[in-house]
Formats: sequence, C-alpha cells, structure tokens
Amino acid sequence: MILERKRVLTFGTFDLFHFGHLKLLERASRLGDELFVGISSDALNFSKKARNPIMNEIERAHIVASLKFVNSVFLEESLELKREYLLRYEADILVMGDDWAGKFDDFRDICQVVYLPRTQNISTSELLQRIKNDF
Ligand code: CTP
Repeated sequence: MILERKRVLTFGTFDLFHFGHLKLLERASRLGDELFVGISSDALNFSKKARNPIMNEIERAHIVASLKFVNSVFLEESLELKREYLLRYEADILVMGDDWAGKFDDFRDICQVVYLPRTQNISTSELLQRIKNDF
C-alpha cells in the first residue's frame, strides 16, 4: 500500500528571523507531513520594498532550512511564479499568514489554501524599529 504524504508550501522573506516566523512555520508543518519553504530572493525583496533585506538570501535560506520541521527550502525569484512553484513542488497545501488573507484564493484549483493568524506584536519591521529606537 502506498501512503499519501501531504506536502505543505509557504513563502516569505524571513529576515531577522523571529518568534512570529518560528510559530508560522511550526504550525504550517503540522498541517501536513513535509514543509517546503520559498524564501524570497534579495532581488524580489528589492523590487517590492526598494531596499535589501538585512540578511541576504543565503543566510535567510540557511536559517530556515536548519529548522527541524522544515524539509526543504528554495528561492522565490518572482511573485508571478507562485503557481509554477506550487506545481513544481507538488504542494497539497499552501499556507500563508493572515496578512495575506484572500490574496491566494485563486490557487484553490490546484491545492488547499490556508491562512494562519499572525503572532501578535512582532514583525521584522517592528523589530527594526525597536532596535533603531532603543540603541
Ligand atoms: N508571520 C506571522 N506572524 C508574525 C510575522 C510574520 O505569522 N508576527 C508570517 C507572515 O504572515 C508570513 C511569514 O511569517 O506568512 C513570513 O513573514 P515575513 O513577511 O517574512 O515577516 P514579517 O515579520 O511580516 O516582515 P515585515 O515586517 O517586513 O513585513
């Protein structure tokens, strides 16, 4: 008998890796049997925010890949390629934080789409602000 494994995919920048990132990935991993994470490339971040992340894509990918509940990471080079990534990595479930609620519903034709509540009171931007204010 062949057992079906459920693969979960999620995407993000994961800059200045923090507790909110950890909880998102931990909860995402519990929705299936294996978790693949698309780390947005430096170029993609630059095109979205007109600045580079604090940690480069290799560092960010390395940190996320080292988590015990993450099976594999890949670089997300373009927002337009989400559907291709979901198909290429054979996603059964796409998980995103609920700051993205509704934004990925179009992919329900190829996988389940789940939005998880964000962890309160923490984000990369908020951390950066805290550091700027406190030091
Ligand atoms: N996330 C979360 N809880 C937080 C922060 C992020 O669940 N407090 C989730 C996001 O919803 C996303 C993933 O973690 O699904 C990656 O988020 P990312 O955008 O890389 O981190 P943020 O901290 O939101 O970064 P920024 O402040 O630059 O938007």
